[in-house]
Amino acid sequence: MPYLLGLDISTTGAKALLIDEQGAVIASHTTPQPISTPRPLWSEQNPADWWDGIVTAIRAVLAGNSVADQIAAIGLTGQMHGLVCLDVAGQVLRPSILWNDQRTQAECDWITQTVGAQRLIQLTGNRALTGFTAPKIVWVRDHEPEVYAGIAHVLLPKDYIRFRLTGQYATDLADGAGMLLLDVANRRWSEEMLHALDIPAAWMPEAFEGTAITGVVSAAGAAETGLKAGTPVVGGGGDQAAGAVGVGAVEPGVVSLAVGTSGVVFAPLGSYAYEPEGRLHAFCHAVPGQWHFMGVMLSAAGSLQWYRDTLAPQTSFDALTAEAESAPPGSDGLQFLPYLTGERTPHPDPLARGAFIGLTTRHTRGHMTRAVLEGVAFGLRDSFELIKQSEAGRNIRQVRVSGGGARSSLWRQIMADVFDASLIPVEAPEGAAYGAALLAGVGAGVWPDILSASRAIHLGEETRPGANVPVYEAAYRIYRNLYPTLKDTFKALAG
Ligand code: XUL
Repeated sequence: MPYLLGLDISTTGAKALLIDEQGAVIASHTTPQPISTPRPLWSEQNPADWWDGIVTAIRAVLAGNSVADQIAAIGLTGQMHGLVCLDVAGQVLRPSILWNDQRTQAECDWITQTVGAQRLIQLTGNRALTGFTAPKIVWVRDHEPEVYAGIAHVLLPKDYIRFRLTGQYATDLADGAGMLLLDVANRRWSEEMLHALDIPAAWMPEAFEGTAITGVVSAAGAAETGLKAGTPVVGGGGDQAAGAVGVGAVEPGVVSLAVGTSGVVFAPLGSYAYEPEGRLHAFCHAVPGQWHFMGVMLSAAGSLQWYRDTLAPQTSFDALTAEAESAPPGSDGLQFLPYLTGERTPHPDPLARGAFIGLTTRHTRGHMTRAVLEGVAFGLRDSFELIKQSEAGRNIRQVRVSGGGARSSLWRQIMADVFDASLIPVEAPEGAAYGAALLAGVGAGVWPDILSASRAIHLGEETRPGANVPVYEAAYRIYRNLYPTLKDTFKALAG
């Protein structure tokens, strides 16, 4: 009986997940990962820690399941955008600069100016954002010339694991698109971008579709992990694309709403398109031949977490949401702006800030909690609206909701009412690792395609929009005006 292994290098942990050919989870192990902030705005991890963590995780899922011989394929996923610099011998040259590192605003401005704002969006599907990989390469060029001079290969975080497992320098197109160096429409590295930024094409890993076999576990990789030499490794996908596979957002019309620390609205596309102002990300999907739009809110369930930890540390989430239930929809005129860590979509502004607006002496903690749940739903609707207006919005048949925030029935109902759309919950506790394992299954021929693989996914009972839709429509109109009104104030406060 074939098994499939999904490996996920997330910012917080290195996870190995073993599933069977029915898609059932057999074993899972996560090794926590340290993160370092050597200076304000910086965020780094050591690739050696990822490798040690994933070796521990792989050995843990193989122990007690002597299945190494029966693993049909391995799929990789992980945090996107991080820069790994290797020398000609494959040695790591400096710690990886991560997706949430904010040091590269000057480099983003330089890239935008050099390539041209419109051309950049047309070609790469995106604006230059501080999180993306290309600005990090330019930063190393400008600030660490001795490191830059030694670079022979650049990789993304999960692809460093692929390199250690197989000896190959390869990536997948979904993760590759997050480097800002891909010709996203044509699914290959962009000569124009590489030339404009003076980045040697030889540094770039070979880019494969998510289900394509990129190599096999080497003798050295097998000796370290306990895996069988020769086990195929597929392209996989960045965490967002693999996560979308894991909830079945694998065809146009099926949208995923993932309400974790961040909130992501993800919509598959049958052909390449970009949002003219770059307010949505346009990337290749991990599904071969598909693309996707994505809106990212930086503090979704993260807002509720902050609120609880700061203002009600002794109260459980269930108790807090029960209080919120007693406040009316619209929270009696109280609104919450969820930009606690700046924002990406639809306002790419690191200086955007959170706020409660409209407080009166009548407002209780229940009102405030409800305002947080509603504010996050309004922020997610901003991304949903952009998607509805885009090529991905023509025939939305289903919205699947996952993540910690989707477990609260009140929050699910608020989101359904704010979106005026039915939401189908998906239990996806293993996150992107599950999608990576499904991609491996397709690569190994266990399933003929991703749509068939996604039938293994369990769907919950639909939450339908109800009587509160008009109240929320009116409140959303007020919410939409808050950021433009407060933008300059946020900037002044940050200064
Ligand atoms: C996607 C993004 C994050 C990271 C880390 O654009 O920045 O999802 O991949 O999870």
